Amino acid sequence: MLATQTITISRVKESRLREVDFANIPFGKIYSDHMFIADYRGGEWRNFRIIPYGYIPVSPATPALHYGQAIFEGMKAYRGPEGEALVFRPHDNWMRMNISGERMCMPHIPEELFMESLSTLIDLDRAWIPSTPGASLYIRPFMFSADEYIGIKASSDFTFMIILCPVGAYYSTPVKVRIETHYTRAIEGGTGYVKAGGNYGGAIYPAKLAQDKGYHQLIWTDGKTHEYIEESGTMNVAFIINDTLVTPALTDTILAGITRDSVLKLARSWGWKVEERKISVRELIDGLEKGTVTEAFGMGTAATIAPIELIGYGEKDYILPPVSERKYGNRILEELDGIKRGLKQDPFNWVVRM
Ligand code: COI
Repeated sequence: MLATQTITISRVKESRLREVDFANIPFGKIYSDHMFIADYRGGEWRNFRIIPYGYIPVSPATPALHYGQAIFEGMKAYRGPEGEALVFRPHDNWMRMNISGERMCMPHIPEELFMESLSTLIDLDRAWIPSTPGASLYIRPFMFSADEYIGIKASSDFTFMIILCPVGAYYSTPVKVRIETHYTRAIEGGTGYVKAGGNYGGAIYPAKLAQDKGYHQLIWTDGKTHEYIEESGTMNVAFIINDTLVTPALTDTILAGITRDSVLKLARSWGWKVEERKISVRELIDGLEKGTVTEAFGMGTAATIAPIELIGYGEKDYILPPVSERKYGNRILEELDGIKRGLKQDPFNWVVRM
């Protein structure tokens, strides 16, 4: 067990908390008072510290900057009825971070290091967990190669950090998405199934092209044929087709989303019909034309359940039924939100109190 006293803590002189307008929190622009840092040197994690949030010295030769050797996670904490931090499925994020680390040739993060650094940091910045409806504390653990070497090799030095960010809604309205049939997010044998920074960096340009046409994001299709649906924006995607919840089956080009998994577990526990399988663009468009596709939504930590209002394909936009009529997506959102906030029963023991 990693003893908490091995994490040295230097506190801020003065908290920035009172500068924050919790009634109007944007996504991803405000950071809490402190951050956690650990160094990987000589084959072991060391120098665990919590320091005031701020810029960090990084070698200009670090492979993270040149070759994108960087991975991250995203999770959320909510303020519980007694002021406690309710963290949603942190062990799953820990496990996924290590899957990402393995693919990107980065060291394993022990469970105790991940969980204790997280709980110590959250305890220190507990006051930063918003209690406003729709808001939460977004937790961003990340790791990057910290070698001072611009040749390409497996690095030996790494930095693991956690920063905290009170956030409001990621999308303030139902989303408009366009099916992408030229650019590719991930290809078989690549890094699509892990949270590697480069997956997101490479997606910005195609998404920007769609945003310039009035869409919020893309629906990604497979890199070989562009005939099958994979993800939407930075989220997994699901559809209600003939009263069945259908989502693309996981492959090495699709991220195993923790929100996706939560949705599937809840839906199955309610006896809903659930299918994890290939969904062709043709099937989706036919279903939109015939009206058998009645709902579409993204599933992700940042955006939770993001209803899709409109799907663009080629020159045509297909509008889905109004969000107020969507019994499946709305039920999932309400239940998940209630579980995360400690207001509903947590049948799968997802919430960890810190
Ligand atoms: C998340 O949902 O946590 C994500 O990974 C989205 C993020 C890139 C903003």
